Amino acid sequence: MYKIEPLAKSHDREGFDCSSEPLNTFLRQTARQHGERGISQTFVLVDEQAAAPKPILGFFSLNICQVNAESLPPGEAKKLPRNVSGVRLGRLAVAKDRQRQGLGKKLLVGSMEKFMEIFARAGGIGLFVDAKDQEAKHYYEQFGFIALPSNELELFLPARTIQEALH
Ligand SMILES: CC(C)(COP(=O)(O)OP(=O)(O)OC[C@H]1O[C@@H](n2cnc3c(N)ncnc32)[C@H](O)[C@@H]1OP(=O)(O)O)[C@@H](O)C(=O)NCCC(=O)NCCS
Repeated sequence: MYKIEPLAKSHDREGFDCSSEPLNTFLRQTARQHGERGISQTFVLVDEQAAAPKPILGFFSLNICQVNAESLPPGEAKKLPRNVSGVRLGRLAVAKDRQRQGLGKKLLVGSMEKFMEIFARAGGIGLFVDAKDQEAKHYYEQFGFIALPSNELELFLPARTIQEALH
């Protein structure tokens, strides 16, 4: 069984490799500092049985973001004030030897559950993500993310879609 938990010292950050150096470096060098300073929070997927240093199978990072409602896809801005808040899925990655086994999907569901915790306490219109390329964009689209008209590599998953998906 797997579990998702906040990144901590007990996790083997050095051993993680998703084939993307910027994402590896973020996890190794930046993620914990960002967590301590409130810039973003990182969550890791681990095997429930693992002992420290626990191998990291995948991770995602979240932060609160401000959004101009006019940048949303047509229909989504209706009746919203101009400035609204959302949650940004800043990073998502799976260890290269564990890709295409459904772990990315588990992490996305985990990020949706975290979104709902924030939604219940402080609101938020949905999850935003910057896809690093067209392939990543297609990955997110299959889960219901919609490209923003202003930037086709930035995508939005409305709160109502998340609520429906988790039901
Ligand atoms: C993108 C990433 C997070 C996907 O995680 P994953 O665990 O490999 O994906 P899943 O097993 O959950 O994929 C589910 C389905 O998504 C699709 N899919 C998987 N990887 C994909 C990709 N790179 N592009 C498009 N679709 C993809 C497939 O349809 C897959 O089902 P299939 O294997 O039965 O064909 C992972 O490949 C990764 O970490 N890549 C390197 C870092 C990266 O690109 N991160 C995204 C940053 S924007």
